[in-house]
Amino acid sequence: MKHLLKMLDLSTEEIIEILNLADQLKYELKHGIPHPHLKGKTLGMIFQKSSTRTRVSFETGMYQLGGYPLFLSSNDLQIGRGEPVQDTARVLSRYLDGIMIRTFEQKEVEDLAEYGSIPIINGLTDFCHPCQVLADLMTIREFKGSFDGLKMCFIGDGNNMANSLIVGCLKVGMSVAIACPDDYQPPKEILDFAKGYGDKFEMTNLPAQAAKGADVLITDVWASMGQEGEAEKRRKAFAGYQINDDLMTKANADAIVLHCLPAHREEEITEKVFEAHADEIFEEAENRLHAQKAVMVKLMS
Ligand code: CP
Ligand code: NVA
Repeated sequence: MKHLLKMLDLSTEEIIEILNLADQLKYELKHGIPHPHLKGKTLGMIFQKSSTRTRVSFETGMYQLGGYPLFLSSNDLQIGRGEPVQDTARVLSRYLDGIMIRTFEQKEVEDLAEYGSIPIINGLTDFCHPCQVLADLMTIREFKGSFDGLKMCFIGDGNNMANSLIVGCLKVGMSVAIACPDDYQPPKEILDFAKGYGDKFEMTNLPAQAAKGADVLITDVWASMGQEGEAEKRRKAFAGYQINDDLMTKANADAIVLHCLPAHREEEITEKVFEAHADEIFEEAENRLHAQKAVMVKLMS
């Protein structure tokens, strides 16, 4: 494993190795056991979109591993003024030991990996959010003990989160059901991948059907970063694609609820369900730190 560009690139074994290491690093942090695996190493963090969790968890995680994080806003980098990614990749490879990038196009992340010579970590693109899904898988295993026989249900937009969850959950052996409006399904590349899993994957436009017997319910915003101009249109399209008390009655009684955050209460999830499952949702947010530290150790040590 050289980079973390998308879940499609990871084998099941690689995912499990990352999760095991993440559990170990979480234990070490909680017990005050130092783990300076990246002593003296530097991570550049390029942000072309806003972030709370990704920025703070990568930055803190890098310090905890003995390394140095460098926050690089695209407003200040020449990349924001049109310097080609091919050149940026070759220059930054000579200063840094790794790059985390949050941007729009997946191609930009893939190009950084192709032209640079250091590990590249995808901190979210319009196509996927692998760091988040590794933290989600870690959280599911923490609450449920294992992935065996579990069903994950995603409600809402066939977006970057849906894409990564479909791939990640199927790869670790879970069943997956997705409920999206017809015009907002995941891209063909993801659906083609999922079709290979036969009846372990279900795609519907009926939330109640997808939630039936689910052990894990997940949703995400109706309008992602960069789609703010379509917010009104999307609010109409997604009405009914909400995790609420009624939907929870379709799931298993001990189902957990996850949300990558930020959440829009009374849109994709009601305040009541959100608060009833806050323990899971904020453990999930914490697990970003541990899962990403594991990724950085795997790639950069
Ligand atoms: N979930 C997530 O990636 O959060 P941020 O946008 O705050 O980084
Ligand atoms: N789908 C959301 C996820 C935010 C973490 C977005 O891309 O804005």
